[in-house]
Amino acid sequence: MIHLKTPEEVDIMDRANRVVHSVLRHVSSEMAPGMTLKELDTMAESMTKAMGGKPAFKGYHGYPASICISVNDEVVHGIPGGRTLKAGDIVSLDFGVILSGYYGDAACTVPVGSADEAASTLMEVTRQSLLKGIEQARIGNRVSDVSHAVQVWAEGHGFSVVRDYVGHGIGRALHEEPQVPNFGAPGLGPKLQEGMVLAIEPMINEGGPEVTVDPDGWTVRTRDHKRSAHFEYSVALTASGPRVLGVDGP
Ligand code: MF3
Ligand code: CO
Repeated sequence: MIHLKTPEEVDIMDRANRVVHSVLRHVSSEMAPGMTLKELDTMAESMTKAMGGKPAFKGYHGYPASICISVNDEVVHGIPGGRTLKAGDIVSLDFGVILSGYYGDAACTVPVGSADEAASTLMEVTRQSLLKGIEQARIGNRVSDVSHAVQVWAEGHGFSVVRDYVGHGIGRALHEEPQVPNFGAPGLGPKLQEGMVLAIEPMINEGGPEVTVDPDGWTVRTRDHKRSAHFEYSVALTASGPRVLGVDGP
């Protein structure tokens, strides 16, 4: 069942996502060679609490940290531990917050210092593929119109789309219906309606689309060990078009 949100609920979700984006910006700006991922996790957690929110991922299906940090060939759900950042790493930060009973969820991939040209292109194309998907998040379209737009953009630039993990509805739960794949033929799936809130989150690979899960049960990485990027926004469908929550413009 798809839970449609009132404008008041969407405003609360906008506030939850403001905390998410404040944390993502802060953690991104503090990243430096030699820092451990655990330090970034601690930073995310304390900043969230100071802003009146609660980290949403900690304890979710047993996930052991506040933020997911996935480096280079790691795709999603990396667990921040003692690994240290190196110049040129590309780092996917995925963060969720609960505020006033509603979830916010967003992600971005940022370099430590500057990345090589291939990685910079991968990150930029992934971000653009998210924006292409958001353009299709309009009342009257169908879910797979979003999916198709992401796929066409990513594959059109020579990259591949991860199939095994998808975007999702979001609200009083982190994962609600519908699923939002980042691939597929257009015109399929549920019709998009006013009040739907979708977490659209392309995971795009430099090499092939196949992924594996580490023995830790969480860390998803590319099978060919080429790099991956991930961008995510929570997007509300309004009568006047898609509203990206938590930022003043994507
Ligand atoms: N941001 C992820 C998603 O959208 C959630 C991470 S799963 C967790 O599905 F277990 F780490 F919380
Ligand atoms: Co998500």
